[in-house]
Amino acid sequence: MLTRREQTEQEEQKEHLAKHGRRREVFPLFLWFRLFLCPDSEVQRMSLEGHVVVITGAARGMGREYARGFLREGAQVVALDVSWAPSGVSNDDEDFAAELSGNDDALVLTTDLTSDTQVKRAAEATLQRFGTVDVLINNAGLRQRNLYPPSGAITVIETEIGDWQRMIDSHLYAALRTINAFATVMIEKRRGSIINVGSGGSLGQNPATREQP
Ligand SMILES: NC(=O)c1ccc[n+]([C@@H]2O[C@H](COP(=O)([O-])OP(=O)(O)OC[C@H]3O[C@@H](n4cnc5c(N)ncnc54)[C@H](O)[C@@H]3O)[C@@H](O)[C@H]2O)c1
Repeated sequence: MLTRREQTEQEEQKEHLAKHGRRREVFPLFLWFRLFLCPDSEVQRMSLEGHVVVITGAARGMGREYARGFLREGAQVVALDVSWAPSGVSNDDEDFAAELSGNDDALVLTTDLTSDTQVKRAAEATLQRFGTVDVLINNAGLRQRNLYPPSGAITVIETEIGDWQRMIDSHLYAALRTINAFATVMIEKRRGSIINVGSGGSLGQNPATREQP
């Protein structure tokens, strides 16, 4: 019985084969290996066990799901956010800190990424608890609904310098702060991954996001 992901992969492969018949011989061998020799879940669990993953903006939204996913796959997760109280926005009424409490693989920290001191403290607490860092995900950010409450959007003319300063401090400088604080250990062991989450809005595809830097 194939999992949903394997079914999707099969369908994608079929589409690919329809377009590129030349690679037909590669697919059955690859699928056979994936399904019988190396079941998907085992591969992923083996690869993440013992890995320490730092996630910013982990209290809600995408960061929360990253945290859940990494924990499910056996990683140890350091979850950073400026606020852990449910925001009430977009049905965010779950207390994710409560869900993580008692989980020895999770370290929940209240950290404002616009503060050098708080980010450094978070890095110290991480090393004290888990001894290393393997992955840093810079996910925290201010979406328009947070930057411009209650409407969640304003025009360029209404935008103030301070709005952009807050945005740049929370997205750009915050990423630099966490990289400075958490990457040293990765450099020392010559291994690690840093993932910076961005938005397609930065490409100017959506006129409604032009007031964001
Ligand atoms: N959801 C989308 O459709 C979408 C699309 C494009 C890009 N993004 C980007 O993905 C990331 C996550 O988006 P989301 O929808 O999960 O947003 P979200 O608002 O649900 O979560 C962002 C989290 O970042 C935290 N945060 C903000 N400022 C912080 C600070 N100074 N210190 C610590 N934590 C801070 C917030 O408290 C919040 O928990 C953001 O960077 C966003 O710009 C999201």
